[in-house]
Amino acid sequence: MTTLSDLNSCDAATFTDRLRGIYEHSPWIPERAALQRPFANATALKLALQEVVSAASLDEQLGLTRAHPELAGKAAVSGQLTAESTSEQAKSGLHLCSAEEFATLHQLNADYNDKFGFPFILAVKGPDGQGLTRRAIIATFTRRLKNQRADEIAECLRQIKRIAELRLNDLLGMTLDFGPTIMQWCETIAAWSDTDNSASADFDLTCAYMTPAHRKTAAQLLDWMRDAGMDAHIDAVGNVVGVYRSDAPDAKTLMTGSHYDTVRNSGKYDGRLGILLPIAIVRHLRRRGEKLPFHFEIVGFAEEEGVRFKSTFLGSNAVTGHFDLSLLDQADADGVTMREALLAAGHDVARIPAIARDPAQLLGFVEVHIEQGPVLLERDLVLGVVTAIAGSSRYLVELTGLASHAGTTPMTMRRDAAAAAAEIVLLVEQRCAQGASLVGTVGQLQVPGGSVNVIPGACKLSLDIRAADDAVRLAAVKDVLDGIAAICARRQVEVSMQQIVDASAAPCAPRLMQQFGAAIERAGLPRFDLLSGAGHDAMAMARITDVAMLFTRCGNGGISHNPLETMTADDAELASVVLLDFLRSFRPA
Ligand code: GLV
Ligand code: MN
Ligand code: MN
Repeated sequence: MTTLSDLNSCDAATFTDRLRGIYEHSPWIPERAALQRPFANATALKLALQEVVSAASLDEQLGLTRAHPELAGKAAVSGQLTAESTSEQAKSGLHLCSAEEFATLHQLNADYNDKFGFPFILAVKGPDGQGLTRRAIIATFTRRLKNQRADEIAECLRQIKRIAELRLNDLLGMTLDFGPTIMQWCETIAAWSDTDNSASADFDLTCAYMTPAHRKTAAQLLDWMRDAGMDAHIDAVGNVVGVYRSDAPDAKTLMTGSHYDTVRNSGKYDGRLGILLPIAIVRHLRRRGEKLPFHFEIVGFAEEEGVRFKSTFLGSNAVTGHFDLSLLDQADADGVTMREALLAAGHDVARIPAIARDPAQLLGFVEVHIEQGPVLLERDLVLGVVTAIAGSSRYLVELTGLASHAGTTPMTMRRDAAAAAAEIVLLVEQRCAQGASLVGTVGQLQVPGGSVNVIPGACKLSLDIRAADDAVRLAAVKDVLDGIAAICARRQVEVSMQQIVDASAAPCAPRLMQQFGAAIERAGLPRFDLLSGAGHDAMAMARITDVAMLFTRCGNGGISHNPLETMTADDAELASVVLLDFLRSFRPA
């Protein structure tokens, strides 16, 4: 067994030799990293090796990429792979390919090499180290073949770094205390969806407020909280609340958590990571008999995404005492009101106001969340400290024109609601391209009851406008609303608008950011601060207490609100180590 202290104390040639298998046929990487010794921990060693790869010339990077074998390629078939590659390819069953899979991979390898001039590289052990399925490998290969060359070079280098990370874990006999459990828990609850996936090749994870899948997820979170040693219950809006109590007299409460509902066809980590990761930490503390000097409360917020009803942050608004009870009369697309949905789930809506916490008892709220964007990924960073969460304005817009015959109505006489909507979409795009951190999206666009031969008489669309600076956002909202009025007047289309979200930007508390930053540095990682463009429960919690957020790197180019959202067990491990250290060294204001 190789140990970190051996690697720190041996001569440079031995160091290079011991790390020979970490990067395929590329001893120059450990040779250069050797100059950075000694390493405080395995994370620092990993980082130093990765930095050598990042700092190398493009020729060296392409050489490294080309030093890798094709997946299930000729070298694999004729047994010419390095020992590491042989075991990795076997772990995902690449040696068991059917003739059809083998032919598909053969063609993909050829097409990829032709297009890019280097072999396709994928860490086939996957995000949790357990091995990707052949189906997942082929799907990834097919998808990445459509990428641009520069993006593929960057992705191959990231995959090489991931392969090296897994190999280094094996070499040093490292075991992860938290990451694999968290990843497994995410998988377990990702299997429960509102959609019927039985006939589909691609699983669609949709978990909307108070559906059977949602309630099953809540029950599972409750079980895990109790198993971990927490006092736990489900409150009247469906929040799953667990407390790890302190023995300290007069202890106050530090809260954490995130949401367990999802968007339609979601990823597995958005929201859920921020519930499951702290549960894994409490389980660890409880097993060690270790208490904290404050009550540690984890909330699995029942609703944040606004999928089923025209409202968001239902869970966190109840906790802050800002739940709008008139929302209970809102109906979903099937006409079921929120009140009926809650009643059917056995909740007593009269108890919602009592969910509100007393701010005087709170020490703050911290939320761990996958970044959902490419910032950390592109900088090769595992974790980031959020500076502020962008504010957002959302509207539902209904346009009413005049339905009439598509063949007989002259172009000059039309009152086409969809054409007005099209202008609005482009107006949002054009106006929201004009400001730092300003973004605008029309995510829903419908022609209800439309027919191929009828001019659209009605159109419904949504607006979502966000910015870090509230003044920038509100100025853009004003321009867009004025523009919509002008477009509709010109086209003789009636417009009605309903604002469904008006959330101010939420700055994170410097004292909590500083404590996260220090814990990140103690873990051997650099501190990096970034803005959150996505909305989070921490925004709502900021109304009653100081908040901070820890972001984890989001793989696959940073894609989220999509099944391709991904992260690794190693990143979940580092986020857990950092949150645990943050808790142990927490200093109240
Ligand atoms: C929530 O995920 C949002 O930012 O829309
Ligand atoms: Mn989301
Ligand atoms: Mn989220």
